Amino acid sequence: MAFYVTTPIYYVNAAPHLGHAYSTIAADVMARHMRQRGEDVFFLTGTDEHGEPVALAAEREGLTPQELVDRNAPRFVDLMPRLNVSNDFFIRTTDPEHKAKVQEVLSRIRENGHVYEGVYEGWYCPRCADFKTDAEAGDDNLCPIHKLPLTREKEDNYFFRLSAFQDDLLKLLDEQPDFVMPRHRYNEARAFIESGLQDVSLSRSTFTWGVPVPWDEGHVFYVWFDALLNYYTALSYARPGEDLTDRFWPAQFHLIGKDILKFHTVFWPAMLLAAELPLPEHVFVHGFLLIGKDKMGKSAGNAIDPFKIMDEYGTDALRFYLMREVSFGHDGAVSEEGFRARYESELANDFGNLASRTIAMVHRYRDGVVPGAELDADLAAEIDGLVGEVSEQLDRADLTAAGEAIWLRVRRLNRYVEERAPWTLAKDPERAAELDSVLASLIEGLRVVSVVLHPWLPESTGKLLDALDSPQIELECARMQAGRLGAISTLAALFPKP
Ligand code: MSP
Repeated sequence: MAFYVTTPIYYVNAAPHLGHAYSTIAADVMARHMRQRGEDVFFLTGTDEHGEPVALAAEREGLTPQELVDRNAPRFVDLMPRLNVSNDFFIRTTDPEHKAKVQEVLSRIRENGHVYEGVYEGWYCPRCADFKTDAEAGDDNLCPIHKLPLTREKEDNYFFRLSAFQDDLLKLLDEQPDFVMPRHRYNEARAFIESGLQDVSLSRSTFTWGVPVPWDEGHVFYVWFDALLNYYTALSYARPGEDLTDRFWPAQFHLIGKDILKFHTVFWPAMLLAAELPLPEHVFVHGFLLIGKDKMGKSAGNAIDPFKIMDEYGTDALRFYLMREVSFGHDGAVSEEGFRARYESELANDFGNLASRTIAMVHRYRDGVVPGAELDADLAAEIDGLVGEVSEQLDRADLTAAGEAIWLRVRRLNRYVEERAPWTLAKDPERAAELDSVLASLIEGLRVVSVVLHPWLPESTGKLLDALDSPQIELECARMQAGRLGAISTLAALFPKP
């Protein structure tokens, strides 16, 4: 089965921060898990490089917009391997192939009768690159997100007939209630549509940094139309000489932050309907990382530097923290103290300790060879339920529940060590068979948990599975099996105190 997952494409005029890492790591966990299931996976991320904010930033720095994006995009390209993210392609909306495809799709939307010419007058936030309704502008005419004064813009525009799609969009939400997830975001999308849709600007004519409108050279497409189409255009040129569109379109999951819900749950499906293209299955809307009570972000000046944390503690630790700390679909506070606390309690103590003491006991009591003994049936039943649970949870992008299901097993295995006290069994030669079974069960449990946990902690579970001489990570092997393992290596602490 094909599985196509995307992240938002990131604005290049800010440095990458933890919020960008968050969406990307979440998508990576899903992509890695689906690959473990043997699915045919495509995972896309990239950068959003057009629009007025980029043009203005370039002007301030005395650069051309192209120079600015060429300087900044590599920060995001390089972030991906640094986060150990397994994206299959990195799209830049300045790619010529993307631009050509945007022109093709939007021309089709026009040919289908959904575009007209007019004059736009309204409130505009250059930071959002978005027009605001009167309600959003409020009495003070401030951007509700940036709290900056909105400008009054009047210009010749092409319009997209969004209003014509109101009924189709409501029907979509009726028929596909999990088109927008989680439920509270579905309700938000629905309320927005029910409040009445107005036509939206499809083009801008007061600046030139964008994809040219092919039927009128005085215009460039409004950046959101160009940007949203990335999910579709990338498939046509990600593999030179091969078009992956039929294989992967429509996407299974678009993961996005709640700030861009309107674009993905209203504009985007309307555009696809207008172009007569199939719709994605799910838009999953996650919350914000907060510092205290405020949204973390570059403009708020409070962004935690992901690189600093990774330098000190490693990439896995950052991935794990973000996926465990903030309930996926809700806002949640992050902090360096919170990071350290979770690192110590869950990575160093729960998981790291389980791994090191289990492996050490096999060396101490059985010369480093895992006994081929019968496994503890009760423990096996609990551990073997894990893969089904996690698969079902990740089908719903419930990364938080999946993480919790795994952690229940990690804790279960630690309890098993305490309950069965191998160090006591080892003192009594008559209980050798019992010790064999306990050690074999623990090691197999550890192996299975590591396989399922791999998408969260690819590097450390990889090291651990190598030490067990069992590097396979397919979910087919995520069940306890007697006699599977033989001689194992020693293992340095996976999560040392820095
Ligand atoms: N370029 C647009 C998206 C176009 S998608 C076709 C954009 N870019 S952005 O760089 O400003 O933000 C993109 C995404 O980064 C947000 O939707 C969200 O997924 C993530 N985050 C940015 N700040 C965040 C937090 N503080 N917390 C969590 N995620 C955040 O919008």
